[in-house]
Amino acid sequence: MPTVVVVGAQWGDEAKGKVVDCLAQDADMVVRYGGGSNAGHTVRFDGREFKLHLIPSGIFRPQVTSIIASGVVVDPQVLVEEIRALQADGVSVDNLKVSARAHVVMPYHRLLDALEEKQRGSAQIGTTCRGIGPAYADKAARKGIRMADLRHPERFAAVLRSALEEKSRLLKLVYDADCPALEEVWGEYEQFLPVLRPLITDTDPLVYSAVKSGKRVVFEGAQGTLLDLDHGTYPYVTSSHPISGGACVGTGIGPTHIDAVIGVAKAYTTRVGSGAFPTELPNETGNYLRERGREYGTTTGRPRRCGWLDTVLLRYSAQVNGLTAFAMTLLDVLSGLETVQICRAYRLPDGQVVEQFPSDSVVLQQCEPVYEQLPGWKEEIADVRRWDELPEEAKRYVQRVEELTGVPVAMVSVGPMRTQTFWRHNVLEDAPVRSLKELARRQALP
Ligand code: IMP
Repeated sequence: MPTVVVVGAQWGDEAKGKVVDCLAQDADMVVRYGGGSNAGHTVRFDGREFKLHLIPSGIFRPQVTSIIASGVVVDPQVLVEEIRALQADGVSVDNLKVSARAHVVMPYHRLLDALEEKQRGSAQIGTTCRGIGPAYADKAARKGIRMADLRHPERFAAVLRSALEEKSRLLKLVYDADCPALEEVWGEYEQFLPVLRPLITDTDPLVYSAVKSGKRVVFEGAQGTLLDLDHGTYPYVTSSHPISGGACVGTGIGPTHIDAVIGVAKAYTTRVGSGAFPTELPNETGNYLRERGREYGTTTGRPRRCGWLDTVLLRYSAQVNGLTAFAMTLLDVLSGLETVQICRAYRLPDGQVVEQFPSDSVVLQQCEPVYEQLPGWKEEIADVRRWDELPEEAKRYVQRVEELTGVPVAMVSVGPMRTQTFWRHNVLEDAPVRSLKELARRQALP
C-alpha cells in the first residue's frame, strides 16, 4: 500500500473515516487534503466512538503521522476542541502537524455563511454554516489568513485588522449586520495560539519525502465527489475539491505519486442539504434506510435524504476520480428488504434514456431513475467477516454494482466497528510500482 487516495464516491457521509482508520493500521502517514470542519468522520473501536471534523482519521494509530494539509481550511476553535477532546480520551496528538499554508476560518466567515444562506431564501444550499464557502472565497480572492500568519503575533494582528476593516463594511452595507471587533476576535484566537503554534509547519516536504521514500501514505478526502466545486452538482456543492485530484492540489504532491484511488460508496445513496437526487426515496423505504443506517449528520445532526444506489452517479465518480476500487459501506443496512433496486440509467423528460451523469443540475433534477430490481436478503450480516459468508443475494448485489460500474468492490463494510470489515481484492498490494524502494521490496518477495 504505497500511496492511496480515499474519496467519497457520492455526496459525502460514505463512512470514509472508518475506511481510512482501517487502512491506517498499515500506514505511515494519513493526510487530510481538503474541506474543513464541515466534515464529520466517525471512527469506532473497542466500544468507543470518536467524531472528527479536522483531524485525520489515522490519529488513533500511534505509528501514523497525521497531517492537515495545505488545502484544508482550519477553524482554530474546532481544531483546539478536537485536540483537547482526544487528549482527554487518552489519544495522543503528538504526531499531528498542520500546514502553514492552510487557510484559517475566522468568526466572520461563519457569520457570512449563515447570512448568505438566509439571503438565498428558497434557493438555500443547506450549508453546514461552518464558514467554509466564505473562507475558500477569501483564499481565492487572495485575502485569506493562513496558519503561517498565526505564528507571528504582529503579522496576525495586521492581517486581522485589515480583514476586519473590509468585513465590517461588507457586513454593514450588504447584510446590516455587525462584525466582531478586533479585540474580541484577537482575545478569542489568542487562547488557541499556544496549542496551535507547535503544530504549524511546512507539511508539503514532509508528505513529499514520505512518498519518495516509499512510505505508505493515505490521502483522506472529505465530503464527496458530487459536492466537488467543479465536478459536483453545482451550485449545491461545497467550496473545495473532494475528488482525487484534490489530493494533489491540497498536499502539493504530483499525480504520478498516487498509486490507488479508493472510492467509498454506501450500498445505497444519501445526501444532506439541497440539490437534485434522482434516486431519493421520500417514503417508507427511505425511512427504513435512514433509521437502520443512522443517517443523521455527524456535524449538523440533520436527517439525511436517503435513496437507492445510483450507478450512473458511481460511473461518473469512477471517471472523475480514476477509481481503482470501491469500498462499499453499510451493506448491512439493506438486510430485511424483500427486493432491492439499483439505478442503471436516467430517463429524460423527452423519454431518452442516458447512462452519462448530466453536467447540468437543472437537467439532473428532471431525470427519472431507470431501475433494475434484485432480490433482497432477510439475514442480518453484521457478523459476516468473509465474502463467502454473505447471503447469495447480497453477493449478487455487490457483483451487479461491479458489472454496472466496471470497478471492483475491494472492501465491504457491514457495520460501524473497525472489525466489521472485509477485503475482497488485494488491489492495494497490486498497485503499480512507483518507487525503486517499493520495487525492491516486491522483488524480494518469493
Ligand atoms: P458547506 O460545505 O458547509 O459550504 O455546505 C455545502 C454543501 O455540502 C451542503 O449541501 C452541505 O450539506 C454539504 N456538505 C458539506 N460537508 C459535508 C459532509 O461532510 N458530508 C455531507 N455533506 C456535506
